[in-house]
Amino acid sequence: MIQAPRGTFDVLPEDAARREMLEAQAKRILEAAGYQRIETPAFEHTELFARGVGEATDIVQKEMYTFEDGAGRSLTLRPEGTAPVCRAYIEHGMHKLAQPVKLWYLSSFFRAEAPQRGRYRQFWQVGAEAIGSAEPETDAELIVLLAELLDALGVKGTRLHLTSLGIPETRAEYREELKAYLRAHEQQLTPEVRDRIDLNPLRAFDASDPGTRAVMEGAPKLLDRLAADDAQHFGQVRALLDEAGVRYELDPTLVRGLDYYTRTLFEFSSDALGAQSGVAGGGRYDPLIEQLDGPSTPACGWAAGVERMLLAGGELPTSPSLVDLYVAVATPAGAPGAFELAREARRAGLSAQLELAGRSLKGQLKHADRIGARYVAIVGDGSETSLKEMESGEQRELATGEVIPAILRGSRL
Ligand code: HAM
Repeated sequence: MIQAPRGTFDVLPEDAARREMLEAQAKRILEAAGYQRIETPAFEHTELFARGVGEATDIVQKEMYTFEDGAGRSLTLRPEGTAPVCRAYIEHGMHKLAQPVKLWYLSSFFRAEAPQRGRYRQFWQVGAEAIGSAEPETDAELIVLLAELLDALGVKGTRLHLTSLGIPETRAEYREELKAYLRAHEQQLTPEVRDRIDLNPLRAFDASDPGTRAVMEGAPKLLDRLAADDAQHFGQVRALLDEAGVRYELDPTLVRGLDYYTRTLFEFSSDALGAQSGVAGGGRYDPLIEQLDGPSTPACGWAAGVERMLLAGGELPTSPSLVDLYVAVATPAGAPGAFELAREARRAGLSAQLELAGRSLKGQLKHADRIGARYVAIVGDGSETSLKEMESGEQRELATGEVIPAILRGSRL
């Protein structure tokens, strides 16, 4: 038996209803704030992620599904959505539109990670990106919208971790300071952290072993090194969140696995998730558009994992599936008339299903009951059809042409 690849999953019909609700909530919340839907291709030139996400990140180093096309070009299944959306912004000259350009997406992404609960190799994200605004209101509004989405979905036990990274220059200076600090304490660090001091010293904040954690307690924090205008920007973001009543924890050790961030950085975690507690994350990424050969353009955004939101989410109300009419056939000669009646019913705006399994009439009525049909039309070979209202059990003979008007009137038979 051929099974789905490890780390992937099927979205079965019984899962689809919750996903549709999630999509409807995302659309409602984001479009009310002026975000418009965008979808980019499932694969891109590998260079986009190498330059956009960052060569030193785990995503680019270990987690990309990369392949060559027939012409020897290197392509990669998208591991995230921000670099592709920025590529589209540049490619379609969106800097000429009124700024910021506010875009949202609900797409699947691919990362070759070790699968576990809440971590898959193909997963879905709802994302929002506001490109072309440096205002702190943009950051705060994005965070408020994300909080609203998580709330609307009943995601339990959420905590918002917030910090600011400042600009790349501050970060570069800070990296040198942190590297020097880590080297001075090399003996207490795990070999893995030690090996990455040069490549990615910030990752040391992520380590779980007690020795490294003790060293990191005393490590210099980036938040204390911000330039004045960055500190002011962050102060404004915080004030807006305070005013909006969004609770957050200042987390100067927050590390996210992508290199494009500047200034505001945030992540929502959920206690309901276990090890993979990050339910959504994002931040400001002012240098990215220019890094991808576009005009210098500030931007901010986030993405939330669909599966993690559903895992940590509450019961979403689902609308019961409605079948207005089930079209049964009394004799094989009635089949063409039944086929036509089902089509006409759908054209009239009803949901109508046709007998497709060659059941006996008794079997057809049983099936109609199982799928919750309100009416069953039993089509024979003449011009008369029996229409049965399932709830009352009432049944009567009608001219076939009268069946749909009778249902639309909703009249008792
Ligand atoms: P990210 O933190 O890598 O950020 O991913 C965002 C969310 O996607 C995570 O919080 C998590 O819920 C979900 N996620 C990530 N990897 C997996 C996985 N392997 N399985 C299941 N869910 C996963 C980004 O992707 C950035 N593009 C966010 C962003 C947008 N920053 C600015 N704009």
